[in-house]
Amino acid sequence: MADMKALYEDLDRILVTKEEIAEAVKKLGAQITRDYAGKRPLLLGILKGAVVFYSDLMRFIDLPVVCDFMSVSSYGSATKSSGVVQIRKDLDHDITGCDVIVVEDIVDSGVTLNYLSRHLINRGAASVKIAALLDKPARRRVELKVDYSCFNIPDAFVVGYGLDYNEIYRNLPDIGVLAPRIYEK
Ligand code: IMP
Ligand code: MG
Repeated sequence: MADMKALYEDLDRILVTKEEIAEAVKKLGAQITRDYAGKRPLLLGILKGAVVFYSDLMRFIDLPVVCDFMSVSSYGSATKSSGVVQIRKDLDHDITGCDVIVVEDIVDSGVTLNYLSRHLINRGAASVKIAALLDKPARRRVELKVDYSCFNIPDAFVVGYGLDYNEIYRNLPDIGVLAPRIYEK
């Protein structure tokens, strides 16, 4: 536990607690269950940030779902988007005619999901909706409809519950604002 305590010491503050996350994810699962009644959506998780959210959310969706993952990158390891989207790992499934729900950790500039949504439609998806754990609307650079989101957050760099800085902090159960001294040094 000593090392986890050190990770928490890198946070300026906790923004969303694990209890708040659990409640919101459960609610979102119920809403998706209602909205997709009679369907078999394809849950498309965006690696790696969304894995924690994804694994919790899928168990609150009371429908048969198909699971797939992609890895895309617009970031590198810095805290600012480069605006260039690269597919690092593609889908395993042919998504022709599928109702796709893209499960993402956070929408920031919107560049990644704006690109990805168009890409999925071009590949024949019947529908594409976006389910994001976090949304930072103040940072948007391109237009994007976020169909489902659990929390709107201010413009700050956050970590935990899947979100990282340089691959660390993903396993924090809560979401916190990373102290700027960590990435400015
Ligand atoms: P966008 O294309 O600018 O919307 O970038 C979205 C991606 O940037 C997310 O999937 C995250 O991987 C990353 N990102 C954006 N903001 C944060 C943050 O506050 N903490 C950690 N990762 C972030
Ligand atoms: Mg991500």
